[in-house]
Formats: sequence, C-alpha cells, structure tokens
Amino acid sequence: MKITVVGTGYVGLVTGACFAEIGNHVVCLDRDQERIDALQNGHLPIHEPGLLDIVLRNAHSGRLLFTSDVNLAVAHGRVQFIAVGTPAGEDGSADLQHVLAAAQAIAERMQEDRLIVNKSTVPVGTADRVRETMAAVLRARGQPASVCVVSNPEFLKEGSAVQDFVRPDRVVVGADDEQAAQSMRQLYAPFMRNRDRLIVMDVRSAEFTKYAANAMLATRISFMNELALLAEKLGADIEQVRTGMGTDPRIGTHFLYAGTGYGGSCFPKDVKALVHTAREAGQELSILQAVQAVNDRQKQVLVDKIVARFGSDLQGRRFALWGLAFKPDTDDMREAPSLTIIEQLLARGAEIAAYDPVALAQARLVLGERPGLHLVGQADAALEGADALVIVTEWKEFRSPDFAHLAATLRQPVVFDGRNLFEPADMQALGLEYHAIGRGA
Ligand code: UGA
Repeated sequence: MKITVVGTGYVGLVTGACFAEIGNHVVCLDRDQERIDALQNGHLPIHEPGLLDIVLRNAHSGRLLFTSDVNLAVAHGRVQFIAVGTPAGEDGSADLQHVLAAAQAIAERMQEDRLIVNKSTVPVGTADRVRETMAAVLRARGQPASVCVVSNPEFLKEGSAVQDFVRPDRVVVGADDEQAAQSMRQLYAPFMRNRDRLIVMDVRSAEFTKYAANAMLATRISFMNELALLAEKLGADIEQVRTGMGTDPRIGTHFLYAGTGYGGSCFPKDVKALVHTAREAGQELSILQAVQAVNDRQKQVLVDKIVARFGSDLQGRRFALWGLAFKPDTDDMREAPSLTIIEQLLARGAEIAAYDPVALAQARLVLGERPGLHLVGQADAALEGADALVIVTEWKEFRSPDFAHLAATLRQPVVFDGRNLFEPADMQALGLEYHAIGRGA
C-alpha cells in the first residue's frame, strides 16, 4: 500500500518505518528541513532502540522516503496518517493547530479520494473537526474527491516503541465507515500474528480510549506513590505490598512501581487535557486532578529526603545524580523528574554532577549552562567528591554498580534511590545508608 505519514516525531517515525518494513511504500513528511536532511543522511532525531536499523534498511530499499515536499507527500499515499504534535496549551487543552494545518494542507492538494488516519492524541471530536476543515477546503476548490477520517490512537511506549508497534496488544480503530475499517484491517493484518487484535469502534470512542488508557496508567502510578509515602510512615515496604497486590490478576503487576513521579510527553499532557475536556463538558474529574497533584508532589520526594538528611541549606554539598531521561532507553527529557530535582537542589545551593547514558546532549539543550550543574560522561566520574548518590532513572547500567567503589568514592556512603533498585537489607550490609521510596521507616 502507498502510505504517507505527516510528522516525524516518535509516533510518525515509528509508524512510517514499521509500515515500510512490512513492504508498504511510505513517505514521511515533516516541515522541519533540518530534521528531514538528518533523516535522509541516516540520523535519527531521537534515541529509540531498534529504530535506526529499520529506517536505514527501508530507506536503502526505497520503501521509505523522507521529504518536506507537501505536494509529493499528498500525492503519494492513499492513506495519510497524521502524527503531528498536540502540545498542551496554556489552559491544559490539547493544541490542535498542527493537526488542523496538516488536514488543511492535504485538502488543498489532494486530487483523489484519501483516507485520513489520525494517530496524534487528540480530544474527542477532533476527527469531526478534521473532516469539516477538509470538506470546507474541498468545497471551495470545487474538488469532488471525498475524504474519510479514521481515528487510530497509538499506544507505543518510548524505549520499546518498535516492539510495541510490530507486536501490539491491540490496535484501536475508530471508523464510522465499513470500507475505511476494512482498509485499516488490511494495513495492520501483518502485525496481527495468530490473533486478531484490531478493535473497531466508533470514532469518538476510539479518541476517548487513548485518554482513558493513559489516565488509568497515570492513576495507578500516583496511587502507588501515595501509598508508598504512607508505607514509610507505617514501617511497611511498598515493594512487598506491590507483589502482594499485583499478583491478583484483577490488579496485575504492571505499572505499580512507586518512584519519582511520572514524566514524559504523554501522561502529564494527556491527563491535563482530559481534565480540561471534562471541564468543558461540565464535569470535574476529581480523581485525575488528585493524580496530577500527587505526581507534582512526588517529583519533589527525593529532594525532601535529601533535605531531611542534609538540612535545607545545601551550600557546599555536592550530589551525584544518575539518570536524566524521564525513563530508561530514551533521551527524552520532557517533564522528567530529574528537571524538578535539579532545579530544587541548585536553588538550595548544592552542586550536582549528573550522568545519563544517552540523554546528556538533550540535557544540555534543555537545561543550558547552570552554575553548579556539571554534566559528566561517566557514572563513576559523577561520584567523585559527592556527598551522596541520587538515582533518578532506572537505567540497566545502574542496577549492579561496584558498591565497594561507590562507598569508597562518595564523601559519605549515602544513596537516595528514586527507583527502588536495591534491597535495603543488602545496602545496609554493604555499609551504605539507603533512602528509597516507600520502603519502611
Ligand atoms: C505512555 C504509555 O505507557 C503508552 O501506552 C502511550 O502510548 C504513551 O504514553 C503515549 O501516549 O504516547 P511513555 O510515556 O513512553 O508511554 O512511557 P511509560 O513507560 O508509560 O512511562 C511513563 C512514566 O511513568 C515514566 O516517567 C515512568 O518512569 C513512570 N512509571 C511507569 C512509574 O513511575 N511507575 C510505573 O510503574 C510505570
């Protein structure tokens, strides 16, 4: 099939590359010429395991083309995926300007029928707006071609985006038209393996499903974070509690990890947008408002622990910080808890030596030059002269450090672990003072 993907962010790039990989001819469009030039030269704008190989292979075979030429892109795909950003506006609502601009650009140029597939995370009712926007342009052009808009929300996770795309738990398709649903079935059939995982529903329900899923996941995290704080007060261990409750299949073990709060480009933005959508519809989503408040609070929990241990004035203190990305296997720093922790430690006069396996360049861009903040290229180098180690992201390489070296290098053998990587008893046996999340008094 001939496919066009508008937008080469996480979702667009993974979608385009994975559809090309199974034999489709895909054109990826982005108006950012620098990004397109880089992609044409085999450079990805993001760190995503497995993606580069697929991009290079398919670009080489001619099945995957990157362009900023809108005419070419609109002429190419019978199916046009819209996968552009929907950042949070000032009031928390999803900003649809890029989605509607993409729809308009397609309508201005299309000569034949097009199937528009919306992959961006958009509020309920957006497909209707896209359809109306395009219909108005087509009418003004006197163009008889018709347009059908389908919702196909994406559920991939950063760090495992390729795997999530090629081995999906489910593919949700919102289509009010049987022919469009059929095209989507064909498109996704190669990813269905031995079971049909494609769920067709009405367009509005599909749009809502995306927000509902992310809101549920964010709720689980805030719920566990709140219980973790209580566990500390009660002398219970949230890790044992997690195992005990998660093994109930009605609860399930995934997404029950207490930590430094959720970050990233999706949960914070989508929860906010859903609260806003509800308010516009005359409803307060009180659970989700609490989820947000708990998360904002949770991003500060490590700082509270540091202050409780070292005092509120951190002048003359130095901290090693491991992990800047909002989660492992990505260089994405959006809404990363590390940003809050760094801001607050610096504001209290501390020095920080921060290390991340892949996000250092991104951190340099996001944080800029800050007096007191040193970004270092080695985990060990961050430890030199530090009063304590602060672990913010659970990268694999942090899971089995050389504890003897760690204890010998730190000025004081103190570890603040925002990801509960180690057993408190083991750390004690190693002579390390260990502060984790929700692990006893
Ligand atoms: C999330 C969803 O998991 C995807 O299904 C969805 O497609 C995506 O948003 C999206 O809307 O595009 P992502 O933001 O890439 O994916 O990352 P997650 O693995 O979901 O992690 C989000 C945050 O939650 C991270 O900060 C992570 O550290 C935190 N988290 C996750 C916890 O604190 N505890 C957990 O148990 C799980």
